[in-house]
Amino acid sequence: MVLLHSYLRWLLLILLLASIVKSYSGMSYKKTLSAGDKKLWLFTMISAHITLLVGLYLIFFGRYGMFTVTLPPETKVMKDSFYRFFWVEHPVMMIIAIGLITVGRGQAKKSIPDAVKYKKAFWFFLIALLIILAAIPWPAYKEVGRPLIPGA
Ligand code: HEM
Repeated sequence: MVLLHSYLRWLLLILLLASIVKSYSGMSYKKTLSAGDKKLWLFTMISAHITLLVGLYLIFFGRYGMFTVTLPPETKVMKDSFYRFFWVEHPVMMIIAIGLITVGRGQAKKSIPDAVKYKKAFWFFLIALLIILAAIPWPAYKEVGRPLIPGA
């Protein structure tokens, strides 16, 4: 599951980047919302939701899951940088980002001009990307850092 969660990060980052580029171009050139872009936004949202589901499994039942690990009584989650990251900071930031992706994708279904759909989606996706980039446990992060490719 950690492996799957970690690889899904790359899929989501690629799809989200593509969605950002496409919505930027749609907004700049005042394009009509294409079926291809709608599909891209949908796949971006689906990959975010699958990452969320796997994340929910990990946070409860994974090797550092809340139901798997018994913290010593003197350990306070908010004072322990490892558990604070994986139980609080990482999930909260990612859930906010996934919410933004969902709202961004939802623009496709609104009855507003296509240029506005592209513009709104662009901003929702961009902010989501920035949050995700900040909340991924990159190798350089102290204590919580993980490899770019699992097992590497
Ligand atoms: C955009 C969504 C998310 C991305 C891109 C993401 C990415 C990652 C990455 C790259 C790792 C490190 C995996 C490794 O060890 O190689 C990780 C670990 C983890 N993530 Fe996420 N995550 C996301 C959402 C979530 C959510 C919503 C939760 C919880 C509700 C969550 C819970 C966890 C947990 C508990 C770990 C540690 C797993 C372990 O080492 O056993 N993640 N995540």
